[in-house]
Amino acid sequence: MAPRAAPALRVLPLALAAAIFSGLTAILVYLSGVSSSHGGARLSEADLAALAALRGGFSKCVDANGLGLKAVTGEDYCRVVIQYPSDTVSKWRDPITHKVEGLSFEFNLCEAVASWEQVRNSTTVLTKEYIDALPNGWEEYAWRRINKGILLNKCQNRSLCMEKLSLVLPETSPYVPHQFGRCAGVGNSGDLLKTKFGDEIDSYDAVFRENGAPTQNYTEYVGTKSTFRLLNRGSAKALDKVVELEETKKEILIVKTTIHDIMNQMIRELPITNPVYLMLGTTIGSSAKGTGLKALEFALSICDSVDMYGFTVDPGYKEWKRYFSEVRKGHTPLHGRAYYQMMECLGLVKIHSPMRGDPRRTVKWLPTRATIEAARVASEKLLNLQD
Ligand SMILES: *[C@@H]1O[C@H](CO)[C@@H](O)[C@H](O)[C@H]1NC(C)=O
Ligand SMILES: *[C@@H]1O[C@H](CO)[C@@H](O)[C@H](O)[C@H]1NC(C)=O
Ligand SMILES: *[C@@H]1O[C@H](CO)[C@@H](O)[C@H](O)[C@H]1NC(C)=O
Repeated sequence: MAPRAAPALRVLPLALAAAIFSGLTAILVYLSGVSSSHGGARLSEADLAALAALRGGFSKCVDANGLGLKAVTGEDYCRVVIQYPSDTVSKWRDPITHKVEGLSFEFNLCEAVASWEQVRNSTTVLTKEYIDALPNGWEEYAWRRINKGILLNKCQNRSLCMEKLSLVLPETSPYVPHQFGRCAGVGNSGDLLKTKFGDEIDSYDAVFRENGAPTQNYTEYVGTKSTFRLLNRGSAKALDKVVELEETKKEILIVKTTIHDIMNQMIRELPITNPVYLMLGTTIGSSAKGTGLKALEFALSICDSVDMYGFTVDPGYKEWKRYFSEVRKGHTPLHGRAYYQMMECLGLVKIHSPMRGDPRRTVKWLPTRATIEAARVASEKLLNLQD
């Protein structure tokens, strides 16, 4: 477990965080331990029934909403495999292994319900209070949030570290769980140009965008409202370009990686008046992939509900295009679609896409809150048995 911060803050346990956000490999490594040893020994009959109810409801939900996806369950209480129809043409190749992406993906529902509940109750922005409350927070942790922090000798010179973080380090968290009501996370998929979601997106209480996504010239498709923008390393280093994307300059910029001297200089000298924060959450590195999932994570930690737009989630994937630029290298599109469908069927998000364009669409056979809650309680017991 991650060390506890001040009582008001809840911090995502790093093992879980790493497992849910770092992609399939870590999920499998982490979960194989869970799955092989559940045994049921210390779970009550009611707990096992709750897990079985979630698993059953979840499969129905995926079958009903997944546009061809099927959730296959076996004897294990936690494990499900989400499968694509066998005639699906898998296009994406891993750049290192050159292997084409598979058509089935294994997930662990117990781990997912427990971890995402933690996200929903967690603090989300790196604060001074958080670092101070960690045992040896400055020596062991702070330098990791600074680009080239490895050269700082574990923040031996504390004032130097503080200076580097000062422009992005509020004393206490500016945001708390459930601070916002209805939220929309908007991805950058070229699919956005197929449906005029603009007015619908603008009707949310808060809108989360990513990296260099513009609204100008695309408003009928993507809307104009922009409350938060999640930034990966590349976008964060081009902070000056990013702030030009939103005219009111009120947008809150959330950097998912590290603070960089280039950013500090821009914030001071341009100057950049938008609030800029570092996202707490997973440690850097494991979450390198997917600003999209990070945006959803951030939104879930401060919103009552999160609807997603502009993620590539419909059948017929060919190549990753952004709505505002040419074809780019994407990554793991089939894994992503399966993962988002899992999120939808766990009641975490609602998906909007060209093939799910009706704003009144309801998620069919969504397991009830009571079912999910009972399964979460059982899952937490199960996961604690592993510690
Ligand atoms: C999260 O917060 C809610 C509401 O405050 C609480 O009911 C629930 O038990 C919390 N969950 C965890 C895992 O702490
Ligand atoms: C520590 O960092 C501060 C701020 O950059 C600097 O002024 C000071 O000289 C440094 N101290 C040492 C001992 O290097
Ligand atoms: C919008 O279109 C105008 C005219 O073509 C162009 O000059 C401008 O750069 C575009 N803005 C964005 C954000 O693409």
